[in-house]
Amino acid sequence: MNADTCTCGKCRCEHRFRPIAVFDSGVGGLSVLRAIRQQLPAELVLYFADQGHVPYGPRSLKEVRAFSETITRFLLAQGAKLVVVACNTASAAALHYLRQAFPDVPFVGMEPAVKPAAEHTQTGVVAVLATPATFQGALYASVVERFANGVTLLQHTCPGLVAQIEAGNLDAPATRAILEAALLPMLAKGIDTVVLGCTHYPFVIPLIQQIVGPNVRVIDPAPAVARQVGRLLQAAGMRNPGPGSATLRFFTSGKADRLASLLPRLLGEGGPVRQVQWTRDSGRLSLEVI
Ligand code: DGL
Repeated sequence: MNADTCTCGKCRCEHRFRPIAVFDSGVGGLSVLRAIRQQLPAELVLYFADQGHVPYGPRSLKEVRAFSETITRFLLAQGAKLVVVACNTASAAALHYLRQAFPDVPFVGMEPAVKPAAEHTQTGVVAVLATPATFQGALYASVVERFANGVTLLQHTCPGLVAQIEAGNLDAPATRAILEAALLPMLAKGIDTVVLGCTHYPFVIPLIQQIVGPNVRVIDPAPAVARQVGRLLQAAGMRNPGPGSATLRFFTSGKADRLASLLPRLLGEGGPVRQVQWTRDSGRLSLEVI
């Protein structure tokens, strides 16, 4: 059965068989897509990597919001039924705005997992690793205000780490040096939990765990985000009933062959990768497939 053949009039098949969309500045959102694939294997997925603009972290919230809005329009034009903003920086810059601009579209975004960290810390000292833009956004301020509850949060922006991960350097000496510079002083201050507030960072969890040791808990929010995607699809009657393993399609504003070469390692599977190009016409941003 497909959207064209179902005539029951009760379900929303025309939505159920459409893809979900996942976007990030680059390969970071693949850490979220990995969890979505495990929990929702029947869903078709469109993944958008804005590798022409990565990293987002040092950019202004206004600029990241403009990119996020244009990417969202592009993905909706490709038929997306739900959009996962699989990027903490884009969520900080644009999630609230996107929900207002596209009121009929379900969005799932990222926020640093301060809540579970504050609930479970024994020492009361928690590390949060995220980009400068994420720390500047109102979303982070609101999470801290609501959930930090007397817990000391030590923040670090890990300059250069996103670039290392984009290059596939998941255990290179330079990557270790960035993480040690961030984490060793925090360990000395008694952290027992590390919150990964950037979707690129789960790819270096093995390295982080080597540096902080087995007694420090590292929180990857991806499984919780994937559960939220499943809940929203279910509630809206838009969950793809399957069966089978659905296809993935990728778009990048960087080099298609570079993204394709990283997919097996970061995601464990691949799919067709199309290159897209940013254009600006009278100040208005748009995207086209090339
Ligand atoms: N993966 C992104 C995040 O979660 C963006 C990192 C970047 O482009 O700076 O924040």
